[in-house]
Parts: sequence; C-alpha cells; structure tokens
Amino acid sequence: MRISVIKESSASEPRVSASAETVKRYVGLGAEVIVASGAGVASGIGDGEYEGAGGTVVADNAAAVAGADVVLGVRRPDAASLKGAKLGALVIAIMDPYGHEAELDALAKAGVSTFAMELMPRITRAQVMDVLSSQANLAGYRAVVDASAEFGRAFPMMMTAAGTVPAARVFVMGAGVAGLQAIATARRLGAVVSATDVRPAAKEQVESLGAKFIAVEDEEFKQAETAGGYAKQMSAEYQAKQAALVAAHIAKQDVVITTALIPGRPAPKLVSGEMVAAMKAGSILVDLAVERGGNVEGAVPGEVVTTANGAKIVGYLNVPGRLAATASQLYAKNLYAFVETLVDKGTKTLGVKWDDELVKATLLTKDGAVVHPNFKPAEASAA
Ligand code: NAI
Repeated sequence: MRISVIKESSASEPRVSASAETVKRYVGLGAEVIVASGAGVASGIGDGEYEGAGGTVVADNAAAVAGADVVLGVRRPDAASLKGAKLGALVIAIMDPYGHEAELDALAKAGVSTFAMELMPRITRAQVMDVLSSQANLAGYRAVVDASAEFGRAFPMMMTAAGTVPAARVFVMGAGVAGLQAIATARRLGAVVSATDVRPAAKEQVESLGAKFIAVEDEEFKQAETAGGYAKQMSAEYQAKQAALVAAHIAKQDVVITTALIPGRPAPKLVSGEMVAAMKAGSILVDLAVERGGNVEGAVPGEVVTTANGAKIVGYLNVPGRLAATASQLYAKNLYAFVETLVDKGTKTLGVKWDDELVKATLLTKDGAVVHPNFKPAEASAA
C-alpha cells in the first residue's frame, strides 16, 4: 500500500496533507509513504522530518504519485497531475466540488476514486475527520489577529497614567465554528464582543463565551437550522429585518468580523456599502466569506481595501493557510483518521467499505464516473 503526499501546485496554498506524526502512523499501518520534496516546507516541515518519520522523499509530484494506491492533498489536484497513480487509486483532499463539474469529470475519466473531505458528515464518529471545523476554527482566530494588526488602536481597556484607553468593540457575524473562535479570541484580547447568527442554537453558545447576542428572533429564526446543523437561506423579508437591526449596531463598532456561509450557495450579503460608510474612520472589517462571494460589500478577494470614510475591509484568501504550520498539523490528523478507516488492519492493505456512510458521503468519482448524488450529471442521476 503506497500512500503519496503531493506538494500543492498553487503558490497560494502553503498547507500540506501530512505531518511527520501522521507519516509515522501511516507507516505503522503498513504503508509505504512517498513524499514529494518540499511538500511541507511552507508549513515548517522539512524533507528530513518526513524521512525521520519513515517516509521516502522523491524529487517531485510525478515521482510521488507513481504507483500510488492513495494520494493525499490539500486542494483538488488536477487530473493530469495524477498520471502514474494506480487505476482506482484513492485521491483525498478538499475538493471544492460545487461549480467544478468539468474538473470532477476529468478526475472520473482519469480512473481515480476521489473523496471530498469537506463533505464528511458531522456525526460523532467523524468529528476527528472534520476539516471544516479544524480549519474554520483557526480562521476565526486569525481573523481577530489580522483585525488587530490593521487596527490603529488597542483591543483591551487600559487605565494608564496618561489616560484611559477604551476597549475595542468587536461584532462577529455568523457564530459557527469560525465565529465562535473569533468571539473567544477577541474576548481574550479584552474587546467588548457582540455577535449575530440566524440559527437559534447559536444564541446560547455566543452568550456562554461572554458576548452579547443580537438577532431578529422571529418564527423564521426558530426554523433556520437544518437537520445537519447548518443555516438555511433566509427569506428576503428576514434579511431586510436583519439588515435594519445590524445597521444601527455596526455604526457603533470598531471591528466587524463576518463568517456567514450557507452550504452550496453564495455567502449571504450582510454588510452593505452604506453600513460600511456609517462606520468610523479606522474601523476594520474582516470578511472570512470573501472566497464564497463575501458578506461585506466592497470586500476584494486577497486585498485590504481602504474605503472613502477611512475604514479597512480585509479580504485575505485562505486564512487557515496564514497559520500554515498549525493548519497542516490538524488537517493531516483529520486525513489520517479517515484513511485509517479505509485500511484493513489485518492484511495491511486497502479495504474500503464502499457502503460506509463516511465513504458514501464523501466519494465523488469512482470507476470512471462522477458518483456523488449532488454532482452526478443530470441524466445519470435520473437513471
Ligand atoms: P458555516 O461555516 O456553514 O456558517 C458559518 C455561520 O454562518 C453559521 O453559524 C451559520 O448559521 C451562519 N449564517 C448563515 N447565514 C447567516 C446570516 N444570514 N446571518 C448570520 N449568520 C448566518 O457553519 P459552521 O461553522 O460549519 O457550523 C455549522 C453548525 O455545525 C454549527 O451549529 C456548528 O456548531 C455545527 N458543527 C457540528 C459539528 C459536529 O457535530 N461534528 C462540528 C462542527 C460544527
């Protein structure tokens, strides 16, 4: 059983899919681990560390995937880069499948079985494999660190001989995994924190972290959580009421951090240009949803924009990658936990249970076709 760890092809992706610790554990499962040289460098893991853990370092991705049974990545690799892997090899990464049907089709035609880690069901058994949580948690922390770096004032209240510095006011929009960590981090830095969400369950979580909860709590709000624990798309009426409530609140904030997402849809627009214009000069907005269309009007992917009224809108891409070493350690563990379930420990070979709910939920392509019900071509799913 050969497991290959590829070097990410995008210069904007510093994370890696294996750590020295997980390489050691794969070897313990009976695998031969082949790592492309330099795969971990941007995450602070040198080739020597992988070798020390029992891995074999080879020159490049082509050499790494040659004869692979399993290919591990962070982002979806393109089909061409998998040439040389065994027919039916398992390719496991964050696949970003929505809107990338052509790329999925190419992977299917390449004959590999691809798994999207972000589709892992949020059940107890799979918590340890939950890449959305491990990465969003770090993004929430980093959003506050980035906001404080851009902010020209301190976060905590300080009483000094030269006068009293007021605490910064931080408002977090979307109190899922990233938002809750942002709240906790901003609180630790001494800010006065408030937060909003459309899911009623968020209220207690926000309050338990010592932040004030702000939301339109009507009948629609009470129904806004799906069985899977995610937010629903809210009606236009609800969004208008929500906008009116938050507009007045935002005008008094120093820092706004937005994290709101709806699975499979563009991010909801929560902060209008008018709301940004109502903020004081020097205010900071960090839009963690910028890659999915953004929560803040005027946010530009990959940039820090200064607005006419002197506020800044921070739109960094790949925020977990801004903490690449930590993000990779956690991502690597998420992957290991999943791969372990695909191995037959008796024979030390692959033993995928194709009817396991974790496999069924994450498997995108197999035997030359796109097999996931959400991404199958229309005729195939009808049949
Ligand atoms: P997410 O990344 O999909 O969205 C972030 C947040 O934005 C969510 O809290 C969502 O309710 C909120 N949001 C969406 N539309 C909004 C709007 N119009 N206004 C304000 N907020 C809006 O969500 P995430 O972080 O993945 O968490 C979703 C849920 O899953 C949470 O309840 C979380 O506690 C739960 N969860 C469960 C796990 C498990 O059981 N294994 C693991 C991780 C999370």
